[in-house]
Amino acid sequence: MKPEFARTGRIRDRVGRNARKTMGMRHTRRVTSTLGQDHLASTEAATDLWRTAVVYQIYPRSFADSNGDGIGDLPGITSRVPYLRSLAVDAVWLSPFYPSALADGGYDIDDHRQVDPRLGSLADFDAMVSSLHAANIKVIVDIVPNHTSNRHPWFIAALAAGRGTPERDRYLFRDGHGRGGELPPNDWESLFGGSAWAPAGDGQWYFHCFAAEQPDLNWENEEVREDFRRTVRFWADRGADGFRIDVAHGLRKDMSEPYQPGGEISDLMREDGSHPLWDRDDVHEIYADWRRIFNSYDPPRYAVAEAIVHPSRRARYASADSLGNAFNFDMLDADWRADDYRSVINSGIADMISNGSTTSWLLSCHDTPRVATRYGLPLEKDRLAQQVARAWLLNDGATPRLDPALGERRARAAIMILLALPGSTYIYQGDELGLHEVADLPREALEDPMASRSTKEKGRDGCRVPLPWSSDGPSYGFGAQAAHLPQPDWFSAYAVSVQEADPRSTLNLYRRALALRGGLFAGNDFGWVDSEPSVLHFACGDGVRCVTNFGADPASLPPGEVILGSAPLADGRLPSDTTVWLRTG
Ligand code: GLC
Ligand code: CA
Repeated sequence: MKPEFARTGRIRDRVGRNARKTMGMRHTRRVTSTLGQDHLASTEAATDLWRTAVVYQIYPRSFADSNGDGIGDLPGITSRVPYLRSLAVDAVWLSPFYPSALADGGYDIDDHRQVDPRLGSLADFDAMVSSLHAANIKVIVDIVPNHTSNRHPWFIAALAAGRGTPERDRYLFRDGHGRGGELPPNDWESLFGGSAWAPAGDGQWYFHCFAAEQPDLNWENEEVREDFRRTVRFWADRGADGFRIDVAHGLRKDMSEPYQPGGEISDLMREDGSHPLWDRDDVHEIYADWRRIFNSYDPPRYAVAEAIVHPSRRARYASADSLGNAFNFDMLDADWRADDYRSVINSGIADMISNGSTTSWLLSCHDTPRVATRYGLPLEKDRLAQQVARAWLLNDGATPRLDPALGERRARAAIMILLALPGSTYIYQGDELGLHEVADLPREALEDPMASRSTKEKGRDGCRVPLPWSSDGPSYGFGAQAAHLPQPDWFSAYAVSVQEADPRSTLNLYRRALALRGGLFAGNDFGWVDSEPSVLHFACGDGVRCVTNFGADPASLPPGEVILGSAPLADGRLPSDTTVWLRTG
């Protein structure tokens, strides 16, 4: 592992320097030839699809409700397959639909191989997969290996069995401090706020990175490993084409005593794998084991890591003998500035070169404030748009002032950049409608444990409000009754039915862009083209360019034919906050 890491680090530094050096100079580079060399011929076709796939993320409880109980479900997804087909996505990723008390939006799982009865049955899962496959859409399911829920039979048995038992060894139980063990073993904090330890009631404590309802599993335990092999095979056998691995950086932990300091959140992304809880080198043994399972299928199953790690270590998760792909979260932190985009693109492409995989770009997911909102709030010098948006949420959207139209305009320009880049793109449900975060959800309606465990966060419910499908009705076409999170009145104007009728809508822009994408971009072509600092300009296919104006004044365009624009040109010039795809010479 060590030498490879060193190599990755050097490549990144070199590309970083190159990027700085060539900024403003003509610099066109083809990366095609460096990709795919190590892949076996039999896996090539399947791998190629994922290199460029557009994946739509479904948050099942908030997508479509088929039976009017206010909760989205699997038959609801099946009923909307024509919509997904009209978007021309290659795959969907479903956030968890497994049995759960919803202490963390379904990421607290009672049984990893079952469907929550409120969302349907295994037969409904099979029917959904068949109709997605019939529409040529692949299916990615979420695997959550870091923890179970506290209602999982294993955890119930562990509490009952007492200290030192094999049942407790599947989790991370430790003795407390103080006379009767009434104090937690150490001061490590949960990512959702508060202590990372909860009492077992007998002087022992169990460890949880997230909510107390999410006890962490012990990945040194062979039963745990075997159970997840079974889970992966279970869904692959049922037709899942791929897996999104939750908290992929968290499974291996150094719990030896004396405990190492947990440290600040910013310290979690260490460059050397030395953190006791995150991104330890030996986590890849688990993925190498799974890779053998994935590759035993024809076509091989795909996987993408949710790895929140130092960027120089991301490539390890995306290598062919690990998970094969990893989300590039840097774009979530990029502000609407040409320089931010330049540097994220440069490092994303460097990743691709270093690991023989591709980058998976995304602008939003179920954990972040929506992109249209991030880009509609005033930019601040020392605070990321993400942080500004989180503070704004805490304020129920009162200050600073949101400019919704500006945010949507920029989000439209942004998705056209992502779709023109080499790699795959993940679209979070509702972003294709230009939806904003719902900031003024009443506190009593909030479901996210982040909201109740922390005073610094309002939580992630604002991006999880059920989708508006039509402009009226009890839940704007989501279902026959009110939705599980209240939808604001302004959702009406964003409804799918309204946008379908408007040729300039964000939905129609997404549809056109996705329909054009496959034919326009060769997949791996990329090269910067000389431009003013506030303009992002790259070549991305045979004679095709992507140009974005981040500046305040209209910018000139090279001669060529506009294939698609996120907004109309002004007297032949590219207005502020606009992207065009151009065919030149
Ligand atoms: C991941 C999920 C997030 C969840 C957490 C714990 O980060 O994306 O929604 O809360 O894992 O499972
Ligand atoms: Ca339902």
